[in-house]
Amino acid sequence: MITGLDHIAIAVPDLSKAIERFAKDFGLDFKGQEDVTDAKTSTAFFPLSETSIELVHPLNGEGPIQKYIEKKGGGMHHLCFRSDDLDADVTRLKAKGYEFLSETPGIGAHNCRVIFIHPKSCDGVLIELNQPQAH
Ligand code: CO
Repeated sequence: MITGLDHIAIAVPDLSKAIERFAKDFGLDFKGQEDVTDAKTSTAFFPLSETSIELVHPLNGEGPIQKYIEKKGGGMHHLCFRSDDLDADVTRLKAKGYEFLSETPGIGAHNCRVIFIHPKSCDGVLIELNQPQAH
């Protein structure tokens, strides 16, 4: 049985730059770098306490997921980091030069406020930031 999500691996062209992004810009806990010589790979880990797998599928055969599936046939679409102050994080990241897909957050799954960082700001990975709203 599957008991959890151990990790998500993202291939990055510049490891130090990516470590800086995840540790400093996103504030994740950096647990160190390890070279896996058998795999000819250098790794860096950022453990997260709790996560979900989100399956995304076009609603009524239209929208961005439909375009993604037409182009790629499916695949890892985005990572979503939870924020406890979305507006502050967006302001902070914009000041650092990150580009977003929209000017302001919209409403996503679970009625969260959500916004997406443009993949070109994150080595080709689409990153969503969300913040649950009080009911
Ligand atoms: Co999502």
